[in-house]
Amino acid sequence: MKLLTVVGARPQFVKAGVVSKALAKQKNIQEIVVHTGQHYDPNMSEIFFTDLKMPKPDYQLEIHGGSHGEMTGRMLIELERVLQESKPDRMLVYGDTNSTLAGALAAAKLHVPVAHIEAGLRSFNMKMPEEINRILTDRVSDMLFCPTDMAVTNLRNEGISSKNARIIQSGDVMEDSARLFTPFATLPSQLGTLDNFILVTLHRAENTDDPKRLAGILAGLNRIHQSVAPVILPLHPRTRAVIEKLGIDLKVTTIDPVGYLDMLGLLNRCSLVITDSGGLQKEAFFFRKPCITVRDQTEWVELIEIGANELCPPDEEHLIALAKKNLDRKITDDQNLYGGGQASLRIAESLAIA
Ligand code: UD1
Repeated sequence: MKLLTVVGARPQFVKAGVVSKALAKQKNIQEIVVHTGQHYDPNMSEIFFTDLKMPKPDYQLEIHGGSHGEMTGRMLIELERVLQESKPDRMLVYGDTNSTLAGALAAAKLHVPVAHIEAGLRSFNMKMPEEINRILTDRVSDMLFCPTDMAVTNLRNEGISSKNARIIQSGDVMEDSARLFTPFATLPSQLGTLDNFILVTLHRAENTDDPKRLAGILAGLNRIHQSVAPVILPLHPRTRAVIEKLGIDLKVTTIDPVGYLDMLGLLNRCSLVITDSGGLQKEAFFFRKPCITVRDQTEWVELIEIGANELCPPDEEHLIALAKKNLDRKITDDQNLYGGGQASLRIAESLAIA
């Protein structure tokens, strides 16, 4: 079976890394990989292929920038061409980015069946571009690999039944990846022997595109850095651009975006994670680190339920109070929430007999 995989953004490289390795072990699957180019800086893209020991993509579309419509539209045009040329039996897409939606839509229109990894996640906030991408991708997919029980429930609640799609609780491939690569974790050289720091990432449009929210979050991080513990912030290009435009004074330690192995090292060494990323909320849990999520809702509700993660409004006072409360808090939960590192194997085996 010929499988066409579409990736384009940082979190997709992490997920595809382990799944492609599992697919390569299936004798009847030939995988062709397309990189849309959505993320293109070497430290947002190439470093992940190196860290995760992934072969170069078969197609590089080099599409990035522009509005959502423009980016997605250009991807659709090019992916349709790739589909017509490579004639796959199935399309495989990951997560919730514009690259995901473009891949799913281009394939569905050509009647190529679509498999979606990380299906069924919902924030119930239709203002997030990711929520729109997820819902539409799930709707046109016929194999839905869910990372959690809640994701299965969400799909059932939307009326997706076995008549139109197979719903498979596979577990989360990000846990497989963290388990596989943690023994090779590294640390960014400029951090030296720093310990007991707070690891922060911030890039969601809902935070970066609202100057009031962003100013509140950054004021909180500045105070945390001065009075609670050192803050290390690998700065996403989107966030860096907005901070520079608004002329906001940032007192925390910023570094360039880090590769996957450095990120695992930072997670291992930190005392607390503050983030608006979906993936990092779970990675904090894999390392049993407390997490504060600066968003109004999260798709990973099970972490809130067991008390490993706490949502925080985007203002100074809440952030500082939650940082003090959570710093070094022990997370002892041993529930197997994300499949125990077997997700990519389950997915590859299901695809091999699809
Ligand atoms: C995208 C995804 C989001 C995912 C995130 C991970 C969508 C709608 N959002 O958001 O689901 O969690 O990736 O990072 O697809 N830029 C660079 N260099 C790069 C990449 C981006 O300078 O290597 C710039 C872009 O030109 C743009 C901004 O950063 O100005 C945002 O890029 P975008 O492609 O919208 O992605 P993310 O915000 O990262």
